[in-house]
Order: sequence, then C-alpha cells, then structure tokens
Amino acid sequence: MSAAAARAALASLIAAASPAAGQVVPFAVAGDAIASPLAGLSGDAARGEAVVKNRETANCLICHSIPDPREAFMGEIGPPLAGVGARLTPAQIRLRLVDPTRMNPAAIMPAYHRVDGLVNVDPRYRGRPVLSAQEIEDVVAWLATLRE
Ligand code: HEC
Repeated sequence: MSAAAARAALASLIAAASPAAGQVVPFAVAGDAIASPLAGLSGDAARGEAVVKNRETANCLICHSIPDPREAFMGEIGPPLAGVGARLTPAQIRLRLVDPTRMNPAAIMPAYHRVDGLVNVDPRYRGRPVLSAQEIEDVVAWLATLRE
C-alpha cells in the first residue's frame, strides 16, 4: 500500500469509528469557506480544545501537532496547528473541518461533518457525522485562538 493510500485508509477508519450523536446540518460553501456558523450555533473554545485533544473520538493529534507541551506523540501527516488562527479565518477553518474534499478531492484529512461518500462505516453509525454541528463550532472557536 502506498503512503497516500495508507493515510486515506486511516482517515476513513477515524471517520467511521467515532461518530457524534448529531445529524449533518445544511451549510453553504463560498470559495474555500463556510461563512455562517453551522445551525447558527456559537462555539466554546474550551470545549473545542477538549475535542481536539480527545484521542478516542476526533483523534486530530494522530495527524497534527498543537502548541501544548503537555501533549506527546503528535502526528506529522497534517500541518502543525500552531498559528492556524492567524493563517485562516474561522470561515476557512470551518470548511476544512466539515469537508476538506470540497477544496481537494484527494484530501487526506477526514470529513468531520459529512455522511455521504464514506467507506467502511459501521452500520450502527451510518448517517451520523464524526463531529456534531456544535462540536465543529467549538473546534473552530478554539483553533481561532491559536494565533502564533
Ligand atoms: C488522517 C489525518 C488527519 C486527521 C485525523 C485530521 N487531519 Fe487535519 N489535516 C490533515 C491533512 C493531511 C491536512 C492538509 C490538507 C489535506 O491534505 O487534507 C489537514 C489540514 C487541516 C487544517 C488546515 C490547516 C492549514 O494550515 O491549512 C486544519 C485547520 C485541520 N486540518 C484541523 C484538524 C482538526 C481540528 C482535526 C480533528 C478534528 C483534524 N484536522 C484531523 C490530516 C488530518
């Protein structure tokens, strides 16, 4: 298996293994961003930090590093998330979490708020996104604070 195929398989496994209890909500993509918060919800940065650090559900740290010396064993498949709040707007971050394949069909990062087109999803979890609309907004709120 090539490295890219291995990474794509890993992304599918993560997407399939940790569904949130929510449903996918409608959203509008403009350019490389989703301007409006999902379902009009406001995010809570502290809750979002906990989602990102959870190694059993979202599992972001298997692929990304964050600027927190307490975390060990962080991945390098994705770009470091340090400074992401300065590089990207909240609207751009939102689309990258909801469905990175909207920008790049070959994206390795899992689509965290999508249910169609995924493979190998456990039947019990079909139709449920990995992260709920509220969790997406919480993660956007926390990543927006990572400005350096
Ligand atoms: C399987 C590996 C993987 C996982 C898991 C993953 N990502 Fe990613 N992420 C990537 C890769 C690779 C990219 C670069 C774009 C691409 O190829 O998909 C990326 C891009 C991003 C970006 C854009 C960064 C930039 O500077 O442009 C953000 C923000 C992001 N990821 C956040 C997250 C968060 C938050 C989680 C957990 C909810 C997560 N990622 C889980 C691999 C991953």
